[in-house]
Amino acid sequence: MRVLELFSGLGGWRCALGDRGGVVAAYDVSEAANATYALNHGEVPEARELATVPLAELAATGADTWLMSPPCQPFCRMGNHQGLEDRRSLAFLHLMEVFRQAAPDRLVLENVVGFLGSDAHALLSERVRTHGMHQLDLQACPSRFGWPNQRPRVFLVASRKPLKALPQPRLPPRPIAEFLDDLEDETLYLRASKDARHHQGLDLVEAGDCRSACFIGGYGRRFVGSGSFLKTERGVRRFSPSEVARLLGLPEAFRFPEALSLEARYRLLGNSLSIPVAAWALDHL
Ligand SMILES: C[S@@+](CC[C@H](N)C(=O)[O-])C[C@H]1O[C@@H](n2cnc3c(N)ncnc32)[C@H](O)[C@@H]1O
Repeated sequence: MRVLELFSGLGGWRCALGDRGGVVAAYDVSEAANATYALNHGEVPEARELATVPLAELAATGADTWLMSPPCQPFCRMGNHQGLEDRRSLAFLHLMEVFRQAAPDRLVLENVVGFLGSDAHALLSERVRTHGMHQLDLQACPSRFGWPNQRPRVFLVASRKPLKALPQPRLPPRPIAEFLDDLEDETLYLRASKDARHHQGLDLVEAGDCRSACFIGGYGRRFVGSGSFLKTERGVRRFSPSEVARLLGLPEAFRFPEALSLEARYRLLGNSLSIPVAAWALDHL
């Protein structure tokens, strides 16, 4: 597969791709995402607003496969549900126009479960049908793949070849302890005086537990509903970015640029995907 990685972020799709193919071009508008991508994958994505990238430029990459995770806010439980009406869907709309004129051989789109049944889902499905391609709408969560993390997501898989849904693994999640840093970062502990008011409603887990809530981009700023917090003998703390990265299945060697703030690290991780689940979605191609 010659892959176009669209909305590439920190390069989750590239990690999941493994030796199934190679990325011929990646696109993301975010400087922080592109710096992280470059550090880990040795290539700098195109820092472009995808709504303005012409068909000829995308065609010139020679890609036959699109892997994409468009912004999920228009389809999120906590978002505005505006779908294609949301200005963050402009790039997706543009890509659907490119797809209409020059469809790739294969595509996998990842998004939140709210994407299913949305106007964007209907538009992509219509494009896939028009090109005589086959489509599978898959739903999966890493908690069934042995990972102690909730991240239910939709994977829309399309191909010119017939597709068949593969069975999902039913592995029991491993304990959180296996994903923790050897050396705790003490600055991640919540200070009783300052943060006490947030303690109520926090999703607390312990090292022996086999679950954690979905970590979202706002984990560094928000408390309730942004991901789990770890309860230890010393108190309650955030998971570190490297712990969240492990829970997503990113490689142990995964790094952030040193200058990147803690908030920016959580934002990139919260936007990314579960690597084992994305790899399973790719197995369908
Ligand atoms: C849901 S995240 C995708 C994350 C990625 N799959 C990963 O593994 O990190 C969406 C990404 O799209 C980028 N993005 C959003 N709108 C964009 C646009 N109009 N043009 C280019 N990139 C955009 C954001 O900067 C963000 O990194």
